[in-house]
Amino acid sequence: MYFQRNERGLSWAGTELNSLLPQIRQHLIKHYDYQGPFYAYHGAVIEARCKSLQEKLPNAFFYYSLKSLSNIHIIKKILSFDRFGLDIVSLGELERALLAGGKPEKIVFAGVAKTKTEILSAIKAGIRSFHVESVAELRSLQELAASVGVKAGVALRMNPDVEVDTHKYITTGKEENKFGISRAELPEILHCLREGKNLQLKGLQAHIGSQILDPVPYAKSLAVLNEIAQALRRENFPHLEYISLGGGFGVDYKSMYSELPVNQFSLDELHKILSQCSFESNELHFEPGRYISAMSGVLVSKVRHIKPKSNYDIALIDAGMTELLRPALYGAVHPITTLHALSEYELNRLQTYEIAGPICESSDVFARGVQLPFLKEDDDVLILHAGAYGSVMASNYNTRPLAPEVLIQNDSFQVIRRPQTYKEILASEMI
Ligand code: LLP
Repeated sequence: MYFQRNERGLSWAGTELNSLLPQIRQHLIKHYDYQGPFYAYHGAVIEARCKSLQEKLPNAFFYYSLKSLSNIHIIKKILSFDRFGLDIVSLGELERALLAGGKPEKIVFAGVAKTKTEILSAIKAGIRSFHVESVAELRSLQELAASVGVKAGVALRMNPDVEVDTHKYITTGKEENKFGISRAELPEILHCLREGKNLQLKGLQAHIGSQILDPVPYAKSLAVLNEIAQALRRENFPHLEYISLGGGFGVDYKSMYSELPVNQFSLDELHKILSQCSFESNELHFEPGRYISAMSGVLVSKVRHIKPKSNYDIALIDAGMTELLRPALYGAVHPITTLHALSEYELNRLQTYEIAGPICESSDVFARGVQLPFLKEDDDVLILHAGAYGSVMASNYNTRPLAPEVLIQNDSFQVIRRPQTYKEILASEMI
């Protein structure tokens, strides 16, 4: 499922990259006159990840968090699995979800500060529910649903005040975080729900953070939601359709070859822990993003120049923080590799490099002190596990076009997003 290296070079989920990547490059030059970095996704990896979620959590439903990788073609692939719906956070994501064939009754809308336009559009589209984060949002929802004479589905996004061990920028379920409804706000929320003729309470949700490796906090979060569900029943609210424990399943960013990554969130463990818990709803939901998308994507780049330095050389590559912001923003470390054959990877042949991008920022560095075979201009450099929060967090900084996206399936590929042109970037300013 992951990477293998032999004397012919590097393969990924059975696809020989040494023969396919040059074909992709040629295609991009021929059809789009484009020579820059690109994202390559592997269909087989996406399928394997969805399958393992369905198999290992047999009673759960999954609302793919499309903020992690939102290309329409990828969403379509994920939706071909029957227990999948979509978790969106904006009107733009709603449009993507619908274009990809997402059924409104399998779409939930999260987001801490939804606009009235967004809420109204999603009501009109007939989505399953809004994951409401505040009293103000609930009031707005009631008003807007009443204006079009329908009932809007509601799930309360609770802040369960559960600690998780992850980067401080991606923990969300602590009292001090901006997300979710605190218990103190609950009475007022219940009052709004009772008064709100156009609101239908369907569920409870909590999302405690991202890149979580320990399943135990999910059980803690479930316990809090169960307790709230019981309190709701005592207040005469009907049995809930669902409890959602959000996303956050972490992946192994450290290794590239292992079939069974060691630093990865264990679905088996989660299943074991949760099967000892009850849940006070008909359905149990998760909103995985990264777990599906991270390992499915590689950022393909090439060496522009080698710059000698006193400690080790810097390989300046053509991808930068504009294509993958995670290292600059969170200090995230992604495995970096090349297409060289196995013999080139023998220890005594490796050199130490800093791998840096072309952007005018000192933080535009992917790795320092990485061991790679001897690099020269135009060599391919692959930044792995870049499917999640890669292309979706890209920017036009330095007026660089958004890089194209390619979907690999077996030994062939399809361009699923063409490179952005300078004309497109500048068009909105030509007024
Ligand atoms: N549900 C909710 C309500 C969320 O806020 C998120 C992610 C997810 C589900 C999906 O979480 P996942 O399964 O992908 O961990 N840019 C950061 C991650 C930000 C996550 C935001 N919320 C990164 O690159 O690590």
